Amino acid sequence: MTPAEAKKRIEHLTQQVNYHNDLYYQKHRTEISDFEFDRLLAELENLEKQFPNLRQPDSPTQRVGGTITKEFESVTHQYPMLSLGNTYSEEELRDFDGRVAKGLAGAAYEYFCELKFDGVSISLIYEDGLLTKAITRGDGVRGDNVVANARTIRSLPLRVSAKNRSARFEVRGEVFLPKKEFDRLNKELEDVGEETYANARNTASGTLKLQDSTEVARRKLDCFAYYLLGENLDIDTHEEAIHQIEKWGFQVSPTYRKCQNIDEVLTYIHHWEKRRSDLPLETDGVVIKVNSLAQQQQLGFTAKSPRWAIAYKYKAESIATRLNGVTYQVGRTGAVTPVAELEPVFLAGTTVKRASLHNANEIARLDLRIGDFVFVEKGGEIIPKVTAVDLDRRPPNLRPLQYTRTCPECGTTLVREEGEAAYYCPNTTGCPPQIKGRIEHFIQRKAMDIDSLGEKTIDQLFALGLVKTPADLYDLKKEDLLKLDGFKDKSASNILAGIAESRKVPFEAVLFAIGIRYVGKTVAEKLARHFASMEKLQTATLEQLLEAPEVGEKIAQSVVQFFQDRRNREEVARLRKAGLHLEVEQRVAPVSQVLGNKSFVISGVFRNYEREQLQDLILANGGRVLSSVSGKLDYLLAGENMGPAKREKAEKLGVRIISEEDFERLLKG
Ligand code: IVH
Repeated sequence: MTPAEAKKRIEHLTQQVNYHNDLYYQKHRTEISDFEFDRLLAELENLEKQFPNLRQPDSPTQRVGGTITKEFESVTHQYPMLSLGNTYSEEELRDFDGRVAKGLAGAAYEYFCELKFDGVSISLIYEDGLLTKAITRGDGVRGDNVVANARTIRSLPLRVSAKNRSARFEVRGEVFLPKKEFDRLNKELEDVGEETYANARNTASGTLKLQDSTEVARRKLDCFAYYLLGENLDIDTHEEAIHQIEKWGFQVSPTYRKCQNIDEVLTYIHHWEKRRSDLPLETDGVVIKVNSLAQQQQLGFTAKSPRWAIAYKYKAESIATRLNGVTYQVGRTGAVTPVAELEPVFLAGTTVKRASLHNANEIARLDLRIGDFVFVEKGGEIIPKVTAVDLDRRPPNLRPLQYTRTCPECGTTLVREEGEAAYYCPNTTGCPPQIKGRIEHFIQRKAMDIDSLGEKTIDQLFALGLVKTPADLYDLKKEDLLKLDGFKDKSASNILAGIAESRKVPFEAVLFAIGIRYVGKTVAEKLARHFASMEKLQTATLEQLLEAPEVGEKIAQSVVQFFQDRRNREEVARLRKAGLHLEVEQRVAPVSQVLGNKSFVISGVFRNYEREQLQDLILANGGRVLSSVSGKLDYLLAGENMGPAKREKAEKLGVRIISEEDFERLLKG
């Protein structure tokens, strides 16, 4: 493809992706499937990789991340980010209304009500229509510029091309993690034996500060805009500002309402108090703003907050009920989770019978006793939590709860690892939920994707002693399956076909499927790419593992430990024999041989490339990528922040150290 052709294609793809993005996020409609959308985006990404100087600053490929920010730039807010005064009662709200009326000396005024979204506030700066900065609140005066991460939020326009926009403007809004995403992330963490996040707000805040925007993109943050700032905006009311930013393509929650007086405001407050649990994100109150901008100015600010706005906070939805017992669940990794068994009670739209107790520390903190009345709260999460004990209602003679010492499923004495809150059942090979959990993990969609098998079939296969480890699945015969309840020739063939088909899934999926603790989908992808084969991964030292992207001490240790266990090595050997992919397929079709089989180690951070792009370029041009420096290595491709030990070693061994620019020259041949 010539640069001119590429330019045309890039423009076309950009327009298409933007069109479908806008349709999906602003108009909530779709015209193409996710698959087709991903294909457009992937083609665009590929072209931009080949022709880096054709990448537009507002290219939609930035939505998928790919930037590493080592340190966020600290920026002074042009308009300080103030907080709002809080009220919790109707009386206080009426006092606020009195102050507004007095401040406006009898003039008529209106209010504009919005929900108070419980996330992280962000200030989005647009210069000449382009999103150039996204600044966190910080201390209100200075914040961090997290723009690479903000660009991954699909509902934020990267460019506003409307004619009536001013040269520079600022849109403020709340970045949040939708409840559904929060639950999905926690399931993923649970799945690899990691501690789960406590709440959506903190997770959103932590996510926005991650250095790797690819991980941010994966977490699917979202944003509601609620404030427009700038000079010469040509608007008179907050309502007009909201309509303006909606038209410019920002996502505004449709829950706002203009109110003529404080009684209408109260009606709005009561309306949403009942319905807010149905919303896709957490809300903790209502923000009431004087609508006219001239009147806002007239009322002005105190040192901390505007006099023209206030937040009415809802009390957390909480109810007391009796704790009838505590049961314990054992997960795939052996982690034991206590669950409160409650006297059923109606709370925020559903009947609650069980609530999470997190871990033993939490039980001790609450000083929980069976028979206690406990407060149950529904935060943003779907699973309710026990937040406190109503000590006034504690019946006499209740004894402190003894946390179970043994596994409720297999009776083995539990262990607790240093520094961890959870107790574990160490009987990995004999404890039924752990065995079944590993098989369920193995067959799930993201792993081997054997959807002809379900939890019930696995229960039966396990009960009949036919399947104890994932590799046993590949030894199943039709006669085995015909022993299962209700299974006929067709259903048995179906399962066998599903198992046979799973032999085709790529190495990274197999690596995720075998269930190494802390190796989730993303880490499995990185490890697969880095080591290229199970064999190399299996024999990697701790040091070599630490060289892989995104692998820290905890993951590296866990991988080493996994392969130290003879049973795991045997299982992997059986999977190999069963014909699973234990090596990456050559993903990159060679385009040239200019690098002539020379070997490279990539280290550090690069200006124009992601590490993976460099890897692809080397492979596509006939080179090889190694993970550690040795005398046989041809080139050490050094970016910024490369570890000094590596450089020293390369220098000692006489390995050529080259820069990004040297590498580009090599590619030109
Ligand atoms: S307006 C000067 N509107 O609440 C007034 N804030 O304590 C600017 N928030 O830091 C804020 N939803 O993060 C406004 N609809 C909404 C909001 C909202 C949530 C947050 C915001 C701010 C805090 C105020």
